[in-house]
Amino acid sequence: STDKGLKDWGKFPVGGAVNISDVLKDPKLQAITEKNFNSITATNDMKMYGIIPTEGVYYWDKVDTLVSFCEKNNQRLFGHALIWHHGAPQWIKDQTAENGAEWMDSFMKEYIQTVVGRYKGKVAAWDVVNEAFASEGGAYRETLWYNNLGKKYIANAFRYAHEADPEADLFYNDFNIERDAEKLDGVISMITELKAQNVPITGLGFQMHIRIDTPEELIENSLKKAAETGLKIHISELDIIFNKHNDTEGGGEQSITELTEELKQLQAEKYQRIVKIYRKVVPAAQQFGITFWDFTDRDTWIRPFFNLTDWPTVFDEELEPKPAYYSFAEGL
Ligand code: XIL
Repeated sequence: STDKGLKDWGKFPVGGAVNISDVLKDPKLQAITEKNFNSITATNDMKMYGIIPTEGVYYWDKVDTLVSFCEKNNQRLFGHALIWHHGAPQWIKDQTAENGAEWMDSFMKEYIQTVVGRYKGKVAAWDVVNEAFASEGGAYRETLWYNNLGKKYIANAFRYAHEADPEADLFYNDFNIERDAEKLDGVISMITELKAQNVPITGLGFQMHIRIDTPEELIENSLKKAAETGLKIHISELDIIFNKHNDTEGGGEQSITELTEELKQLQAEKYQRIVKIYRKVVPAAQQFGITFWDFTDRDTWIRPFFNLTDWPTVFDEELEPKPAYYSFAEGL
């Protein structure tokens, strides 16, 4: 039976992404969060725009609340994400334009060390850099960080984080690397380069905002190849989407308008096969876990972000488990 929840299904880390204020005002969501996940990621609360929306003032309330929540429920807290172009508030761009690359690097160091230092021993692992590669192919993304500091901002970010908490696992995280071989090769070359320079990277996150038709052989090969780096592998933001969406740019194509029983079943089977593939091709010591990005069709980011009606998660709009939930659990 799944009465015990995914959390106690096995020893395997199953994660959920949440906004802590939403959880605390919704008893049903809170119960699901407490019962099913032994790892928690903050959807938005630990992003730079959440922590330092204006210059010089750090906001800790939400993260502190989340830390206590996880401590109380004996859940691992995963830090997402220190350096991400989309997470950087406008004032950083303005300051960089005014004060240049040196300012940016020293801000980056101060920010990372303040945040990681404050939660040392409480946050088990961090996405240190998120989405540093272009949406498609093997080139670096031309972000504010890259344009001002070049690719060395990546090595620097990992070093700063490691200085602040030498025990924490440090991840690079990106999307589409399960299906875009060129992009994955680019990321793996970066990892090889970083390791050759003794940069303290210990993990690779596959966001895995996959589609119902994303080929599983491709996913399997990509996870296998990634595991050969020796890094821990995290499926960090899993959802299985029916409609076409345009990566992170927003916008999509609404071709499926109704969640039929047949589609529910297809999705359930796919959730199970993903867990099985992961557990088969990633050596046990490198299995960091599988995290759902939002886990209810009510709260999923896919709807507002891509302006789509979709059902990518394992709980339905009423927060009841879908066939995907049971099927995932059985695959664990
Ligand atoms: C998304 C959140 O879910 C949304 O609420 C927010 O508006 C934008 O960010 N890749 C990531 C996540 O690494 O941080 C993104 O989260 C989804 C894509």
